[in-house]
Amino acid sequence: MTEEISVAVIGAGAIGRTHIDTLAKAPGLRLGAIVDPMPNGAALAQSLGIPCLPDVASLIASGLVTAAVVATPNETHLPISAALLEAGMPVLLEKPVAESLASALSLIAVAQRTGVPLLVGHHRRHNPIVRAAHAAIRAGRIGDLVMATVTCTLAKPPSYFEAAWRKTPGAGGPLLINLVHEIDLLRHFFGEIASVQAMTSNARRGFPVEDTAAVALTFTNGGLATLCISDTATGPWAWDLSAGENPARFPAHPVTAHHYAGSRAGLSLPDLMLWEPEDEPDWTRRLRSSMLPVMPADPYEEQLRHFEALIRLGGTPLVSARDATANLIVLDAIRLAAERGTAVRVDLTPLG
Ligand SMILES: NC(=O)c1ccc[n+]([C@@H]2O[C@H](COP(=O)([O-])OP(=O)(O)OC[C@H]3O[C@@H](n4cnc5c(N)ncnc54)[C@H](O)[C@@H]3O)[C@@H](O)[C@H]2O)c1
Repeated sequence: MTEEISVAVIGAGAIGRTHIDTLAKAPGLRLGAIVDPMPNGAALAQSLGIPCLPDVASLIASGLVTAAVVATPNETHLPISAALLEAGMPVLLEKPVAESLASALSLIAVAQRTGVPLLVGHHRRHNPIVRAAHAAIRAGRIGDLVMATVTCTLAKPPSYFEAAWRKTPGAGGPLLINLVHEIDLLRHFFGEIASVQAMTSNARRGFPVEDTAAVALTFTNGGLATLCISDTATGPWAWDLSAGENPARFPAHPVTAHHYAGSRAGLSLPDLMLWEPEDEPDWTRRLRSSMLPVMPADPYEEQLRHFEALIRLGGTPLVSARDATANLIVLDAIRLAAERGTAVRVDLTPLG
């Protein structure tokens, strides 16, 4: 029988607990330790009968685990993940890959030098819904992308902001925490983003970070997209509130949040509804709708399965640090565009 791999979860907060629950269901992996300096982490570890360590140095010295999931605040991603990789421990690192481009580039360098697997936790890419949409788009089912609209209404309660990093510039804000997922998906489906225009607002919450943003994108393939995101606007029109990925945290509503319109057909997500003309597109003729087939699966479980395969067999991570860093470059361009009030070109040359 294959030996289970002992994995630590570093950061037993909101998403760390999702990973802890998911590890309990992963056949080839087991939770070997929690690392968290706060009392909640120790209490959780005690309830699970596993050790809790205060920091990564103690984890590495303990020899308790061979790999780790890093689910700590964004600005800690580089120091924690670099220490683990240097110690030869494969890492599943929560998104965003880092809080800044400079940190992300340093992490890419460590991953390349050590050759130790580093998978970035853009978990949606492991969702069968995303796989089915990606396959359909790549097979030309919608034709060339003409336009896309993405909405994210994520009204967060005041308690969410008790963790100060979530409202700290450079560490939190819905662009870095949430919009990065949408950027990642759009790039995954349609290729690289060429330029952005954006407006941001903090008028509702008054935090030093934005609470709302409206963004327009052009893709290198000529398509256009708009994204509207807010962590204070109420509504079900968000991936998190419609895809049913994390039902313990977010109830799933029967709505769509992504609409892609191509030269041949339209596709909405997460319902995977394809809207096609009987023959040539004509706005006066009824479109035929059909749902793309999908076998649902928990993307966090799928992500851990992929992580396990990387640990056991090596290979290329589905979401590498380099790939995830392109998302940060787009976010930087969005922030700059909002600041300047002009279009900003997305420059991926730092990635070499
Ligand atoms: N994939 C997703 O959908 C998703 C969802 C939520 C959060 N995230 C990402 O996960 C990360 C954590 O977010 P969260 O909302 O769970 O945060 P959180 O504030 O709820 O939890 C963070 C935890 O990390 C602990 N911590 C802080 N510094 C630490 C350190 N140096 N070593 C060990 N533990 C430390 C804190 O005590 C806390 O328990 C962020 O990068 C966030 O962007 C991803």
